[in-house]
Amino acid sequence: MTIDKNRAPLFERLMRHAEQSYVSLHVPGHKSGQGLDPTARPYYESIMRLDLTEISGLDDLHHPEEAILEAQQLAADCFGAEESFFLINGSTVGNLAMILSVCRRGDLLLVQRDAHKSVIHGLMLAGARAVFVSPEVDPLTGMTRGLRLEAIQEALEKYPEAKGLLVTRPSYYGMALPLQEIAQLLHEHGQLLLVDEAHGAHFGLHPALPPSALACGADAVVQSTHKLLTAMTMGAMLHVQGELIDRNELKRYLTMLQSSSPSYPLMASLDLSRRQMHTEGSELLGKGIEAVEKFTKGLELLSDFTRLDPISLQEINCKDPFKVTIKDTHHRLSGFELKDELEAHGCFVELADPQAVLLVFSLASTEQDVLKVLKALKAISLAINEKTGEINNEEILRSYSSTVMPGLSKPVSFDESNVRQKGTIQVALKDAEGMLSAEMVVPYPPGIPVLCPGELISAEVLRYLMQLVAMGARIHGLIDGEPPMLTVFSSAKP
Ligand SMILES: Cc1ncc(COP(=O)(O)O)c(C=O)c1O
Repeated sequence: MTIDKNRAPLFERLMRHAEQSYVSLHVPGHKSGQGLDPTARPYYESIMRLDLTEISGLDDLHHPEEAILEAQQLAADCFGAEESFFLINGSTVGNLAMILSVCRRGDLLLVQRDAHKSVIHGLMLAGARAVFVSPEVDPLTGMTRGLRLEAIQEALEKYPEAKGLLVTRPSYYGMALPLQEIAQLLHEHGQLLLVDEAHGAHFGLHPALPPSALACGADAVVQSTHKLLTAMTMGAMLHVQGELIDRNELKRYLTMLQSSSPSYPLMASLDLSRRQMHTEGSELLGKGIEAVEKFTKGLELLSDFTRLDPISLQEINCKDPFKVTIKDTHHRLSGFELKDELEAHGCFVELADPQAVLLVFSLASTEQDVLKVLKALKAISLAINEKTGEINNEEILRSYSSTVMPGLSKPVSFDESNVRQKGTIQVALKDAEGMLSAEMVVPYPPGIPVLCPGELISAEVLRYLMQLVAMGARIHGLIDGEPPMLTVFSSAKP
């Protein structure tokens, strides 16, 4: 195929179809919006005209030969892959397919501990075993920074039978250590590097951004195009290169796991987002970075709020400039309280944790947005400056890094057929020490599992969870109530 990056073949096809006069004798039943609820018309009408299905000329995601194939080939060219697949169920489905294509029941995969729950679900579906490798944790902020080569070396020595390593890069907070040496090491052992790059679809597309995982040598990479780029929510891509990954298996699982009626507006938004990057990516990302820099400068004038950055990251290009974490300098507001205050001023943040809030900017962030947030922060600082500092979460962060992420784990089996044979009971969370969790327990955000099914609930993990509950954090896997309950295995052994 000759590459014409100015084209958006799928979007163009949809537009052409929508612009002609035709009678729809196929699904969807809203018939290009004719059947819309009238109150929804102003919001939905134009998009419904593009909400079509696999009719002539519009190709088929599960057997692409025309516009979708072309759009995917253009995506591969833009993001540096040999082959790219459009995903219509986010990076979630990419992680599931990636793991299922690599692991059979009982196979072992090295997995970075601070993985998204979709990675754990992939392991469960595969019935695989995982050895969790802890990322480095910044001693000052408690933020995870990424994996060090030495940790992977140790894991490979202990578990040479592993199929490969699944890395989450960048972290939710935007940390992204280099991966080249890790990729090389794995390949020397004939093992795969799989990367959940959900938050890094823009990496490598501007000099101020870290290099992409593909450029570092990863074999398969999942990116949420909807997160930091401009596709519609759920729009994502899976990119592959090299001979190690079995592409036929990958395609087989994508067909099983994805809807047979994929959304065309969503797929076309992937095509458009790709075209935007292909033609003016660096310029647009540069403007977004300028807006963030304005925010950072404005923040420096507000002594009540501090930007939280891990130490010693300045020397290498491994931090996403679009992620900015801020906290109350004087410990009066927790991250959760700061989030509420910002919302009261019309500013909605990505994530709150015990000490800070995470602001996500993008190429679409404007100077007006920046000014509005700075104004809100000024107003909040005036309102709280009577308070004295009470919140000190450093101990909680330390307990998180030292106990929830302890070095290299033992192999954890995700074979559901074993797990389902054990009976379960519900106990008050406070009484769960020493028991085996039957649930995945995930404080949300950031959606990183603290306990997986079959894992021992240690005193430290319990203390950490109780502290989060007391602070009002949302925790998936707990049964809400007074007291909060947790499902555990009734038999003593995993
Ligand atoms: C690291 C990571 N991986 C995967 C996902 C799932 O991505 P998606 O929402 O595109 O399915 C998320 C979602 O927040 C995530 O943070």
